Amino acid sequence: MHREDILIIAYLISSVLFIFGIKNLSGVKTARRGNFLAALGMFLAVVVTLWDQKIVGYELIVAGIFLGALIGTVMAMKVAMTGMPQMVALLNGFGGAASLLVAQAEFVHAPSHDIPVAVSIVLSILIGGVTFTGSLIAFGKLQGVVTEKSVMFPLQHPLNALLILVTVALGLFMAMGAHGVESLHSMGMGFLTLDRLSYIIAGIALLLGILLVIPIGGADMPVVISLLNSYSGIAAATTGFVLQNTVLIITGSLVGASGIILTQIMCKSMNRSLMNVLLGGFGQTPTVSSGEKKQITVKEIGVEEAAMVFETARSIIVVPGYGMAVAQAQHVVRELGELLEKHGAQVRFAIHPVAGRMPGHMNVLLAEANVPYEKLLEMDQINDDFANTDLALVIGANDVTNPAARHDEASPIYGMPILNVDKAQTVIVVKRSLRSGYAGIDNELYGFDNCLMYLGDAKEAISKLIAEIKASK
Ligand code: TAP
Repeated sequence: MHREDILIIAYLISSVLFIFGIKNLSGVKTARRGNFLAALGMFLAVVVTLWDQKIVGYELIVAGIFLGALIGTVMAMKVAMTGMPQMVALLNGFGGAASLLVAQAEFVHAPSHDIPVAVSIVLSILIGGVTFTGSLIAFGKLQGVVTEKSVMFPLQHPLNALLILVTVALGLFMAMGAHGVESLHSMGMGFLTLDRLSYIIAGIALLLGILLVIPIGGADMPVVISLLNSYSGIAAATTGFVLQNTVLIITGSLVGASGIILTQIMCKSMNRSLMNVLLGGFGQTPTVSSGEKKQITVKEIGVEEAAMVFETARSIIVVPGYGMAVAQAQHVVRELGELLEKHGAQVRFAIHPVAGRMPGHMNVLLAEANVPYEKLLEMDQINDDFANTDLALVIGANDVTNPAARHDEASPIYGMPILNVDKAQTVIVVKRSLRSGYAGIDNELYGFDNCLMYLGDAKEAISKLIAEIKASK
């Protein structure tokens, strides 16, 4: 068998491994296997690529692998669960930068006269550049290095549109090669060479990445990151066309498609359009729902009263939210669940698709705390059960439980599917204050007759509750 054939077969196997990897990642139980299969596919792709005869020298590659692996390992070990979105943003950004650099190098050193390849180069530079700086801004916003607020200035959107038009036009001239440059010269732009054109496009793409992400508020970054993830996949796929590398085309397309699907799911679960997210400004200022802002009277309880409610509850649904992640309360929540089960109660967890700040946020935290998978139920599976449940325990969740989403047409979350916690016989909400959540709006649930507020940091409050229940038995 020829070297070329082995290469093609190995790339095919690694592509199949990626596809099965993604399939397995879609279920909690199979996610580990999915991760392993995808990593195996990547290992095979790397080994085979290194064996490819087009490799000129190994020194820099090996040095890069060691350095990258070292930095990656340290970062992965140090990152806190709550810091995951910014880590993903950073990695997306590097993917975009890689596509930009590879395409730029290919163009400068071996300019292609083939129009499809030239178009792929332009797209790799453009999308790679936007992904790189856009992801860095997303990282900065989540890390607190760049202001979380939406940064807006007059004529921002028209300026962005103009820059996009200019880049597309310049890209067309660049893809046309020598003819394109001649046309530009005849228009009086004699200073433009093909190389310069590629650098100008890269520069504008890098600027666009910044300008497109700064108007978006920090809280919307997970959606932006998912979208940029999709861009980094598209940039990788177009780079695959540049390098004529099939595995890069397939993996890039997989990342591009799954990123856009995830973005859609997130937008749908928040009941917002992608345009609404991208144009920025959401959740910046507290929003008042329809009519006058209602004064909510809440019933506050202490740890003893809370423990008494638990004593009589036979069926309990725990609803975790962003606050559980902030407090890192997942371990004490698991402990509480086990204690209550020991006392004969049925305990299940209801997971809203956008609870927390990243996809699967609650699943990951509860899995880390060893809560059995079968106790974690998706919204659609459990929502009808609240009506027959003694107690809904809401831990650091807010928007995903706000009944205003069902009826208040003026509310920014109107139409967002929510967990029916208010239908339970009693609701206990654990959070530090009556402050709003991500959407910046009051939660009318807190004023409901069956709702009791047990205020405090989630970890501390649940730990005290465990001690109280143990002491009273
Ligand atoms: P939120 O509505 O953001 O509410 C979280 C609540 O946690 C806050 O009201 C806060 O109240 C409380 N909290 C913070 N720190 C706490 C601590 N240490 N102990 C106890 N409570 C604490 O969260 P949610 O219900 O999970 O909803 C998620 C929101 O994020 C949705 O609006 C969703 O659309 C949005 N979003 C989600 C995603 C994904 S993919 N998950 C992506 C983008 C946007 P206090 O300050 O009073 O404690």
